[in-house]
Amino acid sequence: MANNYRGSEMKAVEVENLFFNYLDKKEKILDGINVTIRKGEIIGLVGLSGSGKSTFCHCICGIIPKIYEGNLQGTIKIFGIDIENMKIAEIASKIGVIFQNPDTQLFSPNVEDELAFGPENLCIERDEIGHRIKKALELVGMEKYRYHNPNELSGGQKQLIAIASVLTMQPQILICDEIMSQIDQKGVELIKKALIEIKNQGKTIIMVEHNNSNLNIADRVLLLKDGKIEEIKTRNE
Ligand SMILES: Nc1ncnc2c1ncn2[C@@H]1O[C@H](COP(=O)(O)OP(=O)(O)OP(=O)(O)O)[C@@H](O)[C@H]1O
Ligand SMILES: [Mg+2]
Repeated sequence: MANNYRGSEMKAVEVENLFFNYLDKKEKILDGINVTIRKGEIIGLVGLSGSGKSTFCHCICGIIPKIYEGNLQGTIKIFGIDIENMKIAEIASKIGVIFQNPDTQLFSPNVEDELAFGPENLCIERDEIGHRIKKALELVGMEKYRYHNPNELSGGQKQLIAIASVLTMQPQILICDEIMSQIDQKGVELIKKALIEIKNQGKTIIMVEHNNSNLNIADRVLLLKDGKIEEIKTRNE
């Protein structure tokens, strides 16, 4: 019993027999997916454009079917708990999502306000919010920019702030959906370094990537093809 409990604690995400099609389409975008992602892993998720990578990510964080409708079958568990009966806000406190374009994710006039927004909505105490902002900025190496306007930052720096703004919610899992695709090489290196730091804090990262050279930080690489997921690379330790 105790062993089983610990076992499920180590499984950040468990997906069993997941099938999905959008309401207006018959085609099953996800056609029987079974995958387990362990706590502390960086998972690279690859696949052709339109293969369903974002769809899969949206299922894991509950956006599907709670916001984008469709027919979903199967089970998705986060740390052993089925997300079906969880509210979207509850899932959001466990899984943070970062998207491709940092400009669509940042809307405050300064970095501090941006990072305070999430925890303020959760009615977290002021001192605790200040502490979380400091820790999140340290983790992504952006302490110096706490009082800056995000518009003054480079694309890579904006994306680091987008990551930090998710971190202040203290999620255990991060989904990064092609977050480096619009970022220059210098920014990409900073983001990869930040993701490794975040992993070293025990968090789990699912990283959708088009660029092979960014997959070197992944512990495993999963390929989404014909609605199914197969593992194509495991890091040799
Ligand atoms: N909200 C939606 N409603 C209907 N169909 C959708 C919706 N979102 C995506 N699709 C379709 O589902 C399929 C998978 O799309 P998805 O965005 O998940 O692919 P992807 O692997 O993330 O692609 P990309 O690499 O281009 O980001 C595509 O055919 C797409 O047109
Ligand atoms: Mg996508």
